[in-house]
Amino acid sequence: MSHRLSHIVLLYNEDTEILHGAPTDSIAVQSTVATAESVFQALLELEYPVYKAAIRESLEEIEQHLSAFDRRSTLVFNCCDGFRGVNRGAVDVIRRLEELGFAHTGANFASAQACIYKPITKAILIANGVETPAYQVFHSPNESFRLPFPAIVKPAAEDGSIGITHNSVVTNLRELRREVERVLVLYCQPALVETFIPGREFSVSILGNQSPEILPIAEQDYSRISDPLAQLLTYQSKWDPAAPEYYDIPALVPADLSKSEEQLVRETARRAFQALGLRDLGRIDLRLLNGIPYVLEVNELPDLAPEAGFWNSARAAGMTYPQLIDRIVQHALKREGWTLS
Ligand SMILES: Nc1ncnc2c1ncn2[C@@H]1O[C@H](COP(=O)(O)OP(=O)(O)O)[C@@H](O)[C@H]1O
Ligand SMILES: [Mg+2]
Repeated sequence: MSHRLSHIVLLYNEDTEILHGAPTDSIAVQSTVATAESVFQALLELEYPVYKAAIRESLEEIEQHLSAFDRRSTLVFNCCDGFRGVNRGAVDVIRRLEELGFAHTGANFASAQACIYKPITKAILIANGVETPAYQVFHSPNESFRLPFPAIVKPAAEDGSIGITHNSVVTNLRELRREVERVLVLYCQPALVETFIPGREFSVSILGNQSPEILPIAEQDYSRISDPLAQLLTYQSKWDPAAPEYYDIPALVPADLSKSEEQLVRETARRAFQALGLRDLGRIDLRLLNGIPYVLEVNELPDLAPEAGFWNSARAAGMTYPQLIDRIVQHALKREGWTLS
């Protein structure tokens, strides 16, 4: 028996505080509220019977919100990219949704868990023959370091460039230990140290499931920054309009790539999407160096804000914002085998 869609519940996290990290990290964390509002407006415009539900303090709120809805006909549009000020909280939300038996857009529990903890993402990529920068995970600043410099030190389970500054790129042991310590203390999680790849950087936005659609590729244009070790998306470059670098790294869509490079980047992104078992949507960030595409990160819930990269690529493919949101819903319905009422 196929299910008919009766309602969509747009679920998002409204985090008033962050549990760890720098005070300014809250800009990225709280941007979810505005993004959810944009998605909500798009769903209204599309004339879906949609309800908006914020979760704030406890996972029990999910059950409370959903108790009025029938799980056989209600799709949850999941915009929770964290919970209670912790990025990994997004995984707990998905687990609870699945325990309650609700179908939802985007990655399932296992897939989200693998994407949010970058060392697991990388192990899965490697097992599937996808290149990713060489890495080491640090649980203490004094562990021995086996990789060459330059390297980059990142929190193992954040996104949105949280925790990434120009100091994250390190060229000697002293700097490495300083940054590892900073991540361990400030972000209360292991530090992921990777070989720094000084290549061109691309974001590949993907929609769909069985044969996913690759949207026009975006390139981060670093041509205004001369030092290769300063060419990276720091937190400030993404979120702080007062920082000069906020304006220095425009995204070029579509990226200027030769046919063969484009093919390589698309194929790598598709393989990463499938290796991590993503559903409905995803964005793969990678760097291309000497003809090798190194996957930096697999985003199971890319930022859907109307000014963010995913939407930029969808627009370059000719979609309006509501059409993009509709595509995500339609992919989820098709995957679940549901029909529209
Ligand atoms: N191994 C690396 N080599 C070069 N630059 C990197 C590397 N890892 C991360 N970066 C830079 O840091 C940015 C953020 O890193 P990423 O792993 O994508 O974290 P986030 O999940 O916070 O987006 C990237 O967009 C890139 O500019
Ligand atoms: Mg990234």
